[in-house]
Amino acid sequence: MSPVTSRTQVAIVGAGPAGLLLAHLLAAEGVESVVLETRSQEYVAARIRAGILEQSSVDLLSEAGLGARLAHEGDRHRGIYLQFPHERHHLDFVELVGRSVYVYGQTEVQKDLVDARAAGGQEWVYEITDTALHEVDSDRPSVTYRAADGTEHRLEADAIAGCDGSFGPSRSAIPGGTTWERTYPYAWFGILADVAPSTDELVYAWHPHGFALHSMRSDTVSRLYLQVEPGTDPDSWSDDRIWDELATRLGHGQDGWELKPGPITDKSVLPMRSYVHAPMSHGRLFLAGDAAHIVPPTGAKGLNLAIADVALLAPALAALVRSGDRRLADAYSQSALRRVWRCTHFSWWMTTMLHQDGDPFSAQLQLSQLRWVTSSQAGATGLAENYAGLPFEV
Ligand code: FAD
Ligand code: DHB
Repeated sequence: MSPVTSRTQVAIVGAGPAGLLLAHLLAAEGVESVVLETRSQEYVAARIRAGILEQSSVDLLSEAGLGARLAHEGDRHRGIYLQFPHERHHLDFVELVGRSVYVYGQTEVQKDLVDARAAGGQEWVYEITDTALHEVDSDRPSVTYRAADGTEHRLEADAIAGCDGSFGPSRSAIPGGTTWERTYPYAWFGILADVAPSTDELVYAWHPHGFALHSMRSDTVSRLYLQVEPGTDPDSWSDDRIWDELATRLGHGQDGWELKPGPITDKSVLPMRSYVHAPMSHGRLFLAGDAAHIVPPTGAKGLNLAIADVALLAPALAALVRSGDRRLADAYSQSALRRVWRCTHFSWWMTTMLHQDGDPFSAQLQLSQLRWVTSSQAGATGLAENYAGLPFEV
């Protein structure tokens, strides 16, 4: 039986933050789109991922009409703490570079996008299978898929946005190209706990046992991470062992500071890698977010990079599908990759400065780097500028 054929201006593969935000920005420009997603809407909404938004991401979301709840519930932080044995230093980004960061989880951004969908011009289709991209270098690219009810579909479009994360099919629809990849010899064990954070701002801690991070989601929910061996089974660590190790690495008892434990509601282990694919476009296919690049989580860039890609891609696609003007679309890959490489470097640098790799020489270099970053205005400013986020043009 031939597939059910329909048409839209932009077919968006993937309903993560990149795909949904792109649909929202296109709708605001009067451009129609259809978002295609393999998972259920409930699964995507509940997925626990990133937690920190840069100033420029907050500005973009607010300008796009997605800032109301963020303004009330987002927790503005002036900076972060960097810690190594017997020392904890606050880096004040507002003083250093005039920008702050916000604790506002990816799950909240997704919820806001779901609530804003009434804007119209957007159609979302969940629980599809067999997604395949066709004729992306022609003027009539299309996506075929099987809907949840088993029917076969062909969605024809003026352009396709591949927002399908690191395992989706879009990247491999770009012929040739170059990929750069680095895997790291460690992973993050992340927990979510129903307990008030023990700190007002995030603590990034270097420790001989391995890196630890104290982050948060709200006044009553803490998010914490421990460096562990890749492949660690989260269930092999008891809750007591997790809290004991976090207390050791985060300096419980140091200068009277205490880590308050609480009930753990989620445990997961995240692998760490850097990955960049170039070019990020081919013909009428454009990649955004994790579909084109992955960064290790240290420095909280993944979600912010996805937002920055989409900020460039939305006007480029609007000009392309409305008037056939390819100028922004042709510049997209090169413009996006400048920021991608800056964030790839920053994430690699934060990661290698803070994680134990078993080499005593590395450990001495890391401590020297940490002392420099926390004692020199130049060192601190470089970190602050990258962490708080560079302006979108860079
Ligand atoms: P995604 O959010 O991955 O969305 C891609 C979507 O495409 C998914 O919903 C997927 O189901 C869908 N898809 C895949 N294949 C297909 C297909 N064939 N057809 C249709 N749809 C498809 N970043 C941080 O900054 N800080 C963090 O703490 C952090 N923690 C993370 C924890 C985990 C477990 C993971 C995986 C990532 C984490 N990240 C973190 C990274 C951050 O979440 C991502 O950078 C961000 O989600 C990128 O958004 P995206 O929309 O590009 O991709
Ligand atoms: C979080 C994740 C990060 O990778 C990071 O650098 C800071 C915070 C978080 O999940 O809260």
